[in-house]
Order: sequence, then C-alpha cells, then structure tokens
Amino acid sequence: MIRVAVFPGSFDPMTNAHLDVARRAAALFDRLVIGVLNNPRKSPLFSVEERIAQIRAAVAPFGPHVEVAGFDGLTVAFARERGAGFVVRGLRAVSDFEAELQMAHTNRKLQPAVDTVFLMSALEFGYLSSTLAKEVARFGGNVEDMVPPAVAEAMRARFSPVG
Ligand code: PNS
Repeated sequence: MIRVAVFPGSFDPMTNAHLDVARRAAALFDRLVIGVLNNPRKSPLFSVEERIAQIRAAVAPFGPHVEVAGFDGLTVAFARERGAGFVVRGLRAVSDFEAELQMAHTNRKLQPAVDTVFLMSALEFGYLSSTLAKEVARFGGNVEDMVPPAVAEAMRARFSPVG
C-alpha cells in the first residue's frame, strides 16, 4: 500500500520550521505533495508560482517522491485529487493547537477518508513564523537561520531599497 500525504499551507514564505516538517513527513510517506494555497483573500508577499519555485529548491534534496503544487479551494478536495489519505500539519506550540484541532475536525467531517497527522516542529523553530521572518527581512534583519537560502535571497531582493 502506497501512503500519500499532502502538506498544505500558505507558505508565504516557507520557513525552516515548515522545511523541517516537510523533511520528516518525506521520511514517513511514500509520496508527499506540498500544497501552496492560492488564497484570494490574502495579499501575499510572493505569488503562488514564486512560492512553488522557492519550495521546490528547498525540498529537492528530499527526493523525487516530494512534489510541490498550487491549489485552490478545500484542502480535503486537493488531498483526494492527489490520492492522499493524509494531511500533514506542524505544531510549534500549544498556541497552534486550538486552530489546528478545529481544522482537523472540519477536514475529517468533510472527508472522513482523509486523516490529519501532526508533527511537532523542531524545538529550535518553535518561535518561527512566516510573518515574523517577513518582518525581520522587511527591516533589514538577518533571516539566514529562519528560512531556506532561496527564500532569504528572494526576500532580500523584494525588500531591497532599489528592488
Ligand atoms: O499556512 P497556513 O496559513 O496556516 O495554512 C492554512 C491552510 C491552508 C492549511 C488552511 O487555511 C486550509 O486548509 N485552507 C483551505 C480551505 C479549507 O480546506 N478550509 C477548511 C479547513 S479549515
């Protein structure tokens, strides 16, 4: 039996906390599809295409069984489309739990055949979020330890005074 999972998120941008979850999920599943949500209600820093390219560069070492794709609409619909029986999400701290619990129950209500698997983020990334990394980069701070190299480069270019 082939175990397929989707790892959905906004990934605006992918952080090292996301990357750590992706690395560990890649070791657990036969196929992992990282899904970048195209959310028309948000105005992201990076387009879905830019985020996909950044994530592909970051997860390339994990192997060809890890794919990256954009999606619209419901996560469970995306999971079914991709033949996935699992949704992977990372938990950084207790503060993440309530919203994630609600999402997991909603997804299971919508699609009982899809289960959610939580991975605890590595301790060193417990503080990290895409929002925080963007704020640091926006004001010229060093984000090398917070995001993959391709993301750090893209943020430098986006926030540079001449760019
Ligand atoms: O990176 P994020 O913003 O925490 O990811 C949230 C995401 C994309 C997983 C969540 O918003 C989502 O699943 N959106 C798709 C719409 C959906 O399926 N909603 C029902 C589940 S709450």
